Amino acid sequence: AKILLINGPNLNLLGRREPGHYGTQNLETIVAGLMQSASEANVELSHIQSNAEHEIIDAIHNTDAQFIIINPAAFTHTSVAIRDAILGVAIPFIEVHLSNVHAREPFRHHSYFSDKAVGVICGLGAQGYEFALQAALKQLTV
Ligand code: DQA
Repeated sequence: AKILLINGPNLNLLGRREPGHYGTQNLETIVAGLMQSASEANVELSHIQSNAEHEIIDAIHNTDAQFIIINPAAFTHTSVAIRDAILGVAIPFIEVHLSNVHAREPFRHHSYFSDKAVGVICGLGAQGYEFALQAALKQLTV
């Protein structure tokens, strides 16, 4: 089975970006841990981080994964185009946010993804990705 992990804009700065919201672990470390968990479960995990909306859309169009874990970052609150891409390929997905978006500015309270997600995890930091991966693995075996 294959899972695609997508991280949106500015998440390449994790570790040094607003650590009060996003923690001190960098993206490389987070992804390495997820790769380890996926390989132990015999699942192929691929990862893309992009600051460009069209690259995320293309990755969604081109994947042969059966499940997507996505932190759309700021595109969460803006991107009808990424929403349409993920609905277009009809691949189930879990939405992850490191911070609790509901405890932040009102413009972060709306997501273009949550009503279509299998589940949404927010506010648990990098651990949220691990929980999403465990949930995705379970979804793939049912
Ligand atoms: C985020 C929350 C978004 O509101 C923000 O634009 C991000 C990161 C999170 O992981 O908490 O870039 O998706």
